[in-house]
Amino acid sequence: MFITLEGIDGCGKSTQARLLAAALEHAGREVVLLREPGGVAISEQIRDILLDPANEAMSDACELLLYEAARAQVVHEVIAPALDAGSVVVCDRFFDSTTAYQGIAGGSAREDVDRANALAVSERVPDITFVFDIDPETAAARRSDRDGSPDRMEAKGLAFQEQVAEGFRTIAREEPQRVRLIDASQPVDAVFACMLAELARAGLPVDAADARAALLSVGA
Ligand SMILES: Nc1ncnc2c1ncn2[C@@H]1O[C@H](COP(=O)(O)OP(=O)(O)OP(=O)(O)O)[C@@H](O)[C@H]1O
Ligand SMILES: [Mg+2]
Repeated sequence: MFITLEGIDGCGKSTQARLLAAALEHAGREVVLLREPGGVAISEQIRDILLDPANEAMSDACELLLYEAARAQVVHEVIAPALDAGSVVVCDRFFDSTTAYQGIAGGSAREDVDRANALAVSERVPDITFVFDIDPETAAARRSDRDGSPDRMEAKGLAFQEQVAEGFRTIAREEPQRVRLIDASQPVDAVFACMLAELARAGLPVDAADARAALLSVGA
């Protein structure tokens, strides 16, 4: 099973990805937890180029293709083999982020993004995708509690984040079978419970005991 988590910067993707991986591991499953862009050495090097605030000159096409290059490599090296081996793959961002950021909110045409996504994932489409929906002000407040200055994507401002959030809602409307919108303004444990309820409906039930163990293990 291939599960992806999506949403604007600071919506809670990484928090929920860690929780989900911990719960599934506690339930005895083989889990591969990844983040995009990145996950393997080549893709992490591309990530550094993409997120470096010094790379102001980057064109829309360059940005799109770098995201897809990073994705193609992590699919090839890790995601495809892990899925073939029967592991559950949990990915913190995947191709819907490119559709929302570079396509709907960004400067690339949707048809170009769709074609580039298809090339990069070579038919490894997620079975289920969670979009964590939140207003950009709340997400920005969460992020500001974290260390460090904004990366190149985060520095694009609140209006851009709102367009991205709307982009993710559009994707959820377009693909209701695969994509589930979750209200991410709720507390961590409530968001997690919503995600687990959707997963159970999709045929991947997680015991309450495994969910509790996950919440304890990450200190949520
Ligand atoms: N439901 C929640 N309620 C309150 N705070 C939360 C919630 N979920 C996550 N947080 C906190 O908000 C911050 C951002 O969360 P997290 O890093 O999981 O978001 P993210 O979507 O992965 O962000 P980014 O896109 O920047 O990687 C963290 O400090 C996290 O502890
Ligand atoms: Mg994160």
